[in-house]
Amino acid sequence: MQVSENIIYHIGSAYLVIGGKAALIDTAPRGGEDALVRDIAEILSGRPLDYVILNHTEPNRSYGLSAVLESYPDAEVIATVAGIRNLKEMYSRPFREQAAKDNALLKLGNGAVLRFIITPNLSWPDSMVTYEENSGTLFSCDLFSEGENLMTYPDYVENALKRLSELKITAVMPADSDVLRGADIQTAFDFYGGLLDKYREWEKNKTVLILYSSHYGVTREMAECIRAEMEDAGVTIKICDADKNDAPDINTFSAIIAGTGTYERGAAESVTRVLCGVNAVLMRHKPFFTFGSHGWSGEGANILHSLLVSFGMKPFSKPFTSIFNMSDETRERLTRHAHKFAETLK
Ligand SMILES: Cc1cc2nc3c(=O)[nH]c(=O)nc-3n(C[C@H](O)[C@H](O)[C@H](O)COP(=O)(O)O)c2cc1C
Repeated sequence: MQVSENIIYHIGSAYLVIGGKAALIDTAPRGGEDALVRDIAEILSGRPLDYVILNHTEPNRSYGLSAVLESYPDAEVIATVAGIRNLKEMYSRPFREQAAKDNALLKLGNGAVLRFIITPNLSWPDSMVTYEENSGTLFSCDLFSEGENLMTYPDYVENALKRLSELKITAVMPADSDVLRGADIQTAFDFYGGLLDKYREWEKNKTVLILYSSHYGVTREMAECIRAEMEDAGVTIKICDADKNDAPDINTFSAIIAGTGTYERGAAESVTRVLCGVNAVLMRHKPFFTFGSHGWSGEGANILHSLLVSFGMKPFSKPFTSIFNMSDETRERLTRHAHKFAETLK
């Protein structure tokens, strides 16, 4: 389908830009490669394909590269430095390569000029967008087609939006959704602006989550003891029994305190499942500790501890445990522990 100014064709999940030279932007997912090659051949009708540009290397866009190069072995593959490296790992076929530099221009002739804008982490670390200067067309990769997914890296989204808002954009051609024109472009920018505002609110959220599971109420008592002391110290707490409540949005808290008894030498599945939702980018370096009652072997709180360490969160202490019920001495120690943790959060 021809979509713009006689030079841009939309083929499946790819775009073909034809100036003096021809450049394919992105390829096809697995299963789409034969149709892609057939359509390119039809549009080019005997002319060479000079460039294959991969805005990022996720297989839903890059898988068709081998098939395209089979038909056009001389085409030069352009991606970011990280992108070229990833393509070599993904596809064994050798190819002519050119690493895209930020803001560099590629003149295709007949007025068609492509500009590469490197946008790391939107959505892969090797991502960039490509802008055709003459028509004002932005090939935006995952930006403007993926929403919340991209918000793992809000700073990168903010930076990209700022740079892109300086361009005169008449059409946005995202990798996986419809072409945007006119007022829809501003609406799309505003949508991301709204997501960023929401994220900045989370960043300001100082609420600490206490999440626990308890068969006979001992670990619950520990959770309540921690809550009382920390609230006294001025910390805002959200307390959640993982067996009774819906899972909280774990990545919106400034710290996590997770408790479980030890059950059959393991941690409670309900708590573990919620903690598996920790986003290792958003929660990296945020503080936590784990706690819980156990009887004889005591793996539960250690398992939660290891899990949160593996997400890059910062342990405040070793797991705090009580053998069966809390003694007065254990309760006093736990109170002091919670108080110290509250102090470090100030
Ligand atoms: C079904 C069940 C299995 C348990 N398995 C273990 C275990 O493998 N190792 C251990 O140290 N304690 C075990 N316990 C003891 C608990 O870890 C804990 O001390 C007790 O349930 C009281 O805490 P709670 O009321 O918070 O569950 C088990 C308890 C229950 C009910």
